[in-house]
Amino acid sequence: MDKLEKSGGVVILDFGSQYTQLIARRIREFEVYSEILPWNSGKDRIFGLNPRGIILSGGPRSTAGPDAPQIDRSIITGGVPVLGICYGMQLIAHTLGGSVEKGRLGEYGRTRVIFDGEKGGKILKGVPGAADVWMSHWDEVKNLPEGAVRFGVSETGTCAAFSMDGGRITAFQFHPEVDTTEYGREMLSSFLFDICGCEPNWKLGGWVKRSLDSISSAVGPSERVICGISGGVDSTVAAVLVSKVVGDRLDCIFVDHGFMRKNEPEQVIEAYRKLSLRIRHVNAADRFLDAVKGVTNPEEKRKIIGELFVRVFEDEARRTGGAKWLLQGTIYPDVIESGFVGGDVIKSHHNVGGLPDDMEMSLLEPIRELFKDEVRRIGPLIGIPDELLRRHPFPGPGLAVRCLGSLERERLDILREADAIFIEEIRAAGLYDSIWQAFCVLLPVRSVGVAGDIRTYGETVALRAVASRDAMTAESVRLPWDLVDKAAKRICGEVPQVGRVVMDVTGKPPATIEWE
Ligand code: XMP
Repeated sequence: MDKLEKSGGVVILDFGSQYTQLIARRIREFEVYSEILPWNSGKDRIFGLNPRGIILSGGPRSTAGPDAPQIDRSIITGGVPVLGICYGMQLIAHTLGGSVEKGRLGEYGRTRVIFDGEKGGKILKGVPGAADVWMSHWDEVKNLPEGAVRFGVSETGTCAAFSMDGGRITAFQFHPEVDTTEYGREMLSSFLFDICGCEPNWKLGGWVKRSLDSISSAVGPSERVICGISGGVDSTVAAVLVSKVVGDRLDCIFVDHGFMRKNEPEQVIEAYRKLSLRIRHVNAADRFLDAVKGVTNPEEKRKIIGELFVRVFEDEARRTGGAKWLLQGTIYPDVIESGFVGGDVIKSHHNVGGLPDDMEMSLLEPIRELFKDEVRRIGPLIGIPDELLRRHPFPGPGLAVRCLGSLERERLDILREADAIFIEEIRAAGLYDSIWQAFCVLLPVRSVGVAGDIRTYGETVALRAVASRDAMTAESVRLPWDLVDKAAKRICGEVPQVGRVVMDVTGKPPATIEWE
């Protein structure tokens, strides 16, 4: 996209905090554009984007440690407003001549902070003299840099907030981006609007227009685009956006990799008939199943499937007259979790980490900076029917990452049947639309049972239903017990290979939504 969305935006430097993405989200909720860059991006790249403000995220390291991420002091002193959060605060103190030490106690979770409204100035607009905030640190700022003003102190006596240069530099030991920080939104809002002078003008309608412009300047007038389309929200939105620019130079390929849910290929093709997209159904199930034969390692599965996807597209591109571009519905959490921003690789999303180096086509990823709920909100703006937008997210590698252990046809069929029953019961209870994602997982565990007086040694199915806003964090949904009970009985009754049904009640973190 344009230089930090035509320089109305804010750069977030990521030092590895689990909350970095949340900072980006919060800022976009204020209709201000933001982008996360790795902490070592360098001042030329950062200032080249002309940001209105720079936020230094939290992170797991100690500023004094040998492997501590450090930045050029001019990033802090260069005149652009800076907000340091947690490690970001300690880094400001450390870089500008203060001192940071390991604290006596450390602070984790909800902590009371006393604020000095007069010293705090603009950043404390609308914030009372004390608030409960979310802390997660061991180190603390012991001595402030020269000229710094402390305006917040925690109940354990730790420096919780300071500012410098008349409030241009602000530092919080706590996390204003986390929901459990009282007045966190107010403080972020003051930073953006009163200190950085941002305007709340990053509207999705405007985004669509700019996105269409940048697609049309990227894709040449005679170049063809090929797109893998799955029936999911992301690839559908990406395809419809691009089709508005390139028309029938876009070939949509629906690859049935053999890891689809029950009746999914037919349903997806039917839904796309209503959108004027050229679509080809490629049945590549044998090719995929052969490629993953005997593979049980989740990352290996993902890489093999990711690479094969691209090979299938390349074959199709040749068949359809040589596409220059491979269009993908990659969204921001895919980029973050695949470790492309600077954090740990959580899992290689098939459309990010799994691409082969020698790919023949160039990548087109128009929704790469968007979160899922933003993609959903764009759908109606470009004419996508609700039924496609409401579908639960489904990972690119499909049931391959929900069928733990080896991927034989028979086990995939068991999972397909069980999953269809669970979803049918959720729909019957009228809960489908209020749940972010629900599905079954087939575990690589057998257990002993008894059916009709005969000993059984059957497969185990886990039920999973999660609530989430953007898949970055999730909570297990408390499904009505009658629903769970009925689904479990039906699964064991109608899918005879299954001998046991269990329920996954883990949140994200510590788990992820998918099991692999
Ligand atoms: P996790 O399991 O990382 O998933 O908590 C977060 C969200 O992303 C979906 N997911 C994927 N989507 N390609 C995708 O397009 C993938 O490889 C992939 N892996 C996970 C997952 O279903 C959830 O909604």
